[in-house]
Amino acid sequence: MKNPKLHKFKSVVCEKQVLWLKFLDQLRYWQKSWIELKCNCRGARLNSCKYSRRTNVNQNFQKKIEKHLPVTAAKGSKDLDNASLSAEIKKLLIKKNAVIIAHYYTDPAIQQLAEETGGFIGDSLEMARFGAENPARTLIVAGVRFMGETAKILCPQKTVLMPDLKAECSLDLGCEPAEFKKFIAANPGRTVVVYANTSAEVKAMADWVVTSSIAVDLIKHLTARGEKIIWAPDRYLGDYIARQSGGDVLLWDACCIVHAEFDAVKISNLKKRHPQAQVLVHPESKADVIALADVVGSTSQLLKAAQQSNAKEFIVATETGIFYKMQQACPGKKFIAAATEPFGGKVDCAANCPWMKMNNLENLLAAIKTGNNEIKLADEVIKKAMVPLTRMLEFRKKN
Ligand code: 13P
Ligand code: SF4
Repeated sequence: MKNPKLHKFKSVVCEKQVLWLKFLDQLRYWQKSWIELKCNCRGARLNSCKYSRRTNVNQNFQKKIEKHLPVTAAKGSKDLDNASLSAEIKKLLIKKNAVIIAHYYTDPAIQQLAEETGGFIGDSLEMARFGAENPARTLIVAGVRFMGETAKILCPQKTVLMPDLKAECSLDLGCEPAEFKKFIAANPGRTVVVYANTSAEVKAMADWVVTSSIAVDLIKHLTARGEKIIWAPDRYLGDYIARQSGGDVLLWDACCIVHAEFDAVKISNLKKRHPQAQVLVHPESKADVIALADVVGSTSQLLKAAQQSNAKEFIVATETGIFYKMQQACPGKKFIAAATEPFGGKVDCAANCPWMKMNNLENLLAAIKTGNNEIKLADEVIKKAMVPLTRMLEFRKKN
């Protein structure tokens, strides 16, 4: 038998719940509109800038990325006997005249070892520069494959080893050379500028290679010379540089699955809880996240901003590996990871690059011990890709 009182009570609760959910929805809508308004005020139209056209050249992007995600979780420093692995690596580095070049996103144990052994930690531009200038015969590149390839292109006479050759990057994966070749052919008369996060083959087709630290400066420079641009592969970084430069930029359609997860609504909520915090954002993030930033820049530029700022708290929208160096460089300051939302509703990186995290002391030791995992590239590709990469380094020196 139905109890009419209970039934009425239940339906009132249900109605209240629905009203409450509707109210929350409305609140989220207002918050999103506010962020969009802020984007517009800063000249960041959410879809594209005055000139940049987002093409639909890469519809299978998500499927491709899912196919290449590492299946097993990488072993981090917690699972390994760091002291004995580090001691063995140190001896071999001397014996083999080798040096470690690590990116900020790698395991802190690797970053620490690079520091202790006269190696290097930096953003992708600085890694390339260090590799080209350092006299060591062997470069151990702890990062993702395009970083190892860049080192090989700039120093073909050196041996370049990587802890794991399957450490990819969603941007590199999302820009297949054959497809990109067709894209260039379909859009003649444009200067081809590619991000460093691409394969050697894609670089070999480019007029310029850039990293996030100089992308805006270079596009401004080319725009001032009256050049129209093809930009690949990161659509968010491409859109950002197009807005900053006012250039005519045609965009390839891929993204970094780690940075694309940062969520503007969640970050602005975080900011409410930490009103004094400065927001540091890598430009591979979406326009609405960039609109919330106090500083936008490459990993090294964000680190420098944290060091130079008087603020005591920072909300950081880039991969979590950077926290090791930020904390070390800024004792007493607080770094808060920016909030994320799973990419495409499926892939959940939570600001950890699955490929960067494939590097650990164990596979680094194996690479230096055995000489396996060497980067090998065809001479023809090296010859062609060296041209836009050398241009990038020269541009940096002059600007
Ligand atoms: P940086 O050049 O800023 O280090 O960026 C490299 C990268 O892969 C960011 O995701
Ligand atoms: Fe590529 Fe993004 Fe990983 Fe950087 S963080 S290596 S851009 S997937």
